[in-house]
Amino acid sequence: MASLEVLITEQQIQDKVSELARRISQDYGDTPLLLVSVLKGSFMFLADLVRQLGPNTEIDFVQTSSYGDGTSSTGIVQIRKDLDISIEGRDVLIVEDILDTGLTLAHLRELLGTRRPRSLKVVTLLCKPEAARHGTQAEYVGFEIPDRFVVGYGLDHAERYRNLPYVAVLHEAV
Ligand code: PRP
Repeated sequence: MASLEVLITEQQIQDKVSELARRISQDYGDTPLLLVSVLKGSFMFLADLVRQLGPNTEIDFVQTSSYGDGTSSTGIVQIRKDLDISIEGRDVLIVEDILDTGLTLAHLRELLGTRRPRSLKVVTLLCKPEAARHGTQAEYVGFEIPDRFVVGYGLDHAERYRNLPYVAVLHEAV
C-alpha cells in the first residue's frame, strides 16, 4: 500500500500562486500575455494562476512525451499535441508544474524559440536541483524541492493523484 507524505500544503500552494501572479502582473502590466500550459501536469496550476491574471491573458496547450517506451527517458522530447495558434510576435509564458531533469523545458524553449515570439519566459511551480545542472532555468519558480517522487496538484503516478490539492511525496510499500 502506497502512502502520501504532504510536502507542500494547499494553503502554501495558493499563497505561492498569488505571489507568482502578482510578480507576473507587475512584469507584464497591460501587455497581452499568452500562457502555454504543458499538459497534463500543469492543468491545475494553470487554472489557479490564470484566474489571478488580467483580462489580456490567453491560453493554449502543448503536450510532450519523453518516455517513449514508458519506462525510461529517451532523452528526446516529442510533441504529442502542438499549439493551436501562432506565437509569432507574442509574449509567451510557458506554464510547467515541475522541472525534473529539465529536458522537457530545454526542448520546448528551443522549439518555441524558432517560432519567433516577442518574448519567451517560463513559470514553474516546482523545480528539482537536477534541472539546474542541465542549464535549464525558469524565470519564475514557486518552490525548490528535493529529488523525491512527488504527486498531487496535477502531478501523477500512473495517472493517479493528479486531483490532490496539495503536493506529497509518494512512498511505495516494499
Ligand atoms: C512531467 C512534467 C513536466 C516534465 C518534467 O510531465 O509535467 O512536463 O515531466 O520532466 P523533465 O524536467 O524531466 O523533462 P510528464 O511527461 O510526466 O507528463 P504529464 O504532465 O502528462 O504527467
